[in-house]
Amino acid sequence: ENPSGMGTVGNPKCGDIMRIYLDIDENQVIRDVKFKTFGCGAAVATSSMATELVKGKTVREAMTVTNKAVMEALDGLPPVKVHCSLLAEEAIHAALWDYAQKNGITIEGLEKPKDNIEEEEEEEEIPAASAFTQPVSRPSARVQTEEKPRYQELEEDDREGIPSFFSRR
Ligand code: FES
Repeated sequence: ENPSGMGTVGNPKCGDIMRIYLDIDENQVIRDVKFKTFGCGAAVATSSMATELVKGKTVREAMTVTNKAVMEALDGLPPVKVHCSLLAEEAIHAALWDYAQKNGITIEGLEKPKDNIEEEEEEEEIPAASAFTQPVSRPSARVQTEEKPRYQELEEDDREGIPSFFSRR
């Protein structure tokens, strides 16, 4: 609730999503970390380990928690699961970035996360909105104008049908 920093990242290939919440005190020490992971077992394991590793660290120290550090702490990961640990690192960085943005500070070595899910969600809405632009709306508008009278006819039939049914009784 009301995190100091929140970061959500996803891997478009496997579709897994990871969100990290940081609770950071006035001395820039990470007091608490929470995570939500919608993904594979390794994603859950790496995000859990990453939260353990950054807890109690300052935001600058947290930058040393790389995916390699996470993998070492887990005694290694099979090669196909390395990207899962990368997701954990990216999620921490995204949350740190959010914290830095909110507080107007810079954290050395921290770069703007390349795929923040919030931004992607907004992008997802664009195709729907673009249906209103001229080239896309023309075919769908035609469908609508064809369909609308048909619905109206049906409604009118129904409206006529009901009273006549009752009047016959
Ligand atoms: Fe995607 Fe693990 S398979 S994060």
